[in-house]
Amino acid sequence: MNTSIPIEKFTENVLDAYAAIDSPRIKELIQALIKHFHSYIKETNLLESEWEFSWNFFAEMAKFTHHDRNEFLLLADVLGVSQLIEMINHQRPTNSVGFALVGPFYRANVPLRQKGESIASIDTLGKRVTIRGSVFDIADGKPIQNATLDIWQAATNGLYETQDSNQPDMNLRGKFQTDKNGTYELIALMPTPYPVPTDGPVGELLRVAKRHPNRPAHIHFIISADNYETLITQVFVSGDDLVNTDAVFTANETMIGNFIKENDHYSLTYNFQLSKGKSVYPKAPIQ
Ligand code: BEZ
Ligand code: FE
Repeated sequence: MNTSIPIEKFTENVLDAYAAIDSPRIKELIQALIKHFHSYIKETNLLESEWEFSWNFFAEMAKFTHHDRNEFLLLADVLGVSQLIEMINHQRPTNSVGFALVGPFYRANVPLRQKGESIASIDTLGKRVTIRGSVFDIADGKPIQNATLDIWQAATNGLYETQDSNQPDMNLRGKFQTDKNGTYELIALMPTPYPVPTDGPVGELLRVAKRHPNRPAHIHFIISADNYETLITQVFVSGDDLVNTDAVFTANETMIGNFIKENDHYSLTYNFQLSKGKSVYPKAPIQ
C-alpha cells in the first residue's frame, strides 16, 4: 500500500486504477463494488480478524459448491439478493403473477411431456394435484399458443431428484406446451414445505440469525414463448403460514394458488400472463 496517500483519498486512488476498463457497464459494476465495499469497511470499522473470518467463510462456501450445488447462490438467496434482483428487473401490475428467483435446483433440458401427463413417477410418495390454466398476453388478454412451461418441484422428503438417488432421473420435472387455446394441463405432487440445505456455511448463518431454513410449499415454473419476456415464478399454497417467512424472501401474494381438495386429490386452476419482450432463458445452476 502507498502509505503517502491519505485515507480520504485512498478509495479514489483504487477507483482510478480500474478506470481503463473498456466496457462502460463492467467499469460501472466494478467501480460501484469498490466504492460500496470500501464504505462498508469504513462504516463497520472492519477488524482484521473479521476479514479473516470472511475470506475463510468464502473458502468454506467453495468447498460446498460443485456441479449440482452452488453455496454462493444459496447465500445470495437467503440474504434477499436474488429476489431483489427479480423485483428490480421485472416490475409488473400487482394483479399479475410475480417473478421469483430461479433457485439452485433448476435443471436444463428436461423432457417435454404430453398435455395431462404427470411429472411424478408412479412410486413417488405424496398426494397429486391436477394443475390447469392458460397463458395469455398481459396487454390484450389473447391466449398464447405453443408457450412452454418448464416445471420442477421437490419430493415430499424435501429433496429434488438431483439430491436424491432414490428418485428416477428427471422425476418431478417436465416441460409442457400450451395448445391452440393457450391452455395447459399436468399432474404434479401436492407441494410440501422443505428446508434449504443447511449443512454448509449458509446453514451456519441461518442458525446464528435464529432464522428457520424452510421454504413454503411451492412448485417452480418458467414460462416462455417467442417474442415474450420469460416469466420465472413459483406457485405457493393459499393458507400456508410459511409464505410470510420464506427463508429466501420470495413468496408473496402475487404467487398464491388456490389448491382445492377433492377427496384424495387436489386441483388448481392457475393462469400466467406474459409481456411482449425478449425470450431469454435463465442459466441453469444444474446443467
Ligand atoms: C428452491 O426453491 O428450489 C430454492 C430456492 C432458493 C434456495 C434454495 C432452494
Ligand atoms: Fe424449490
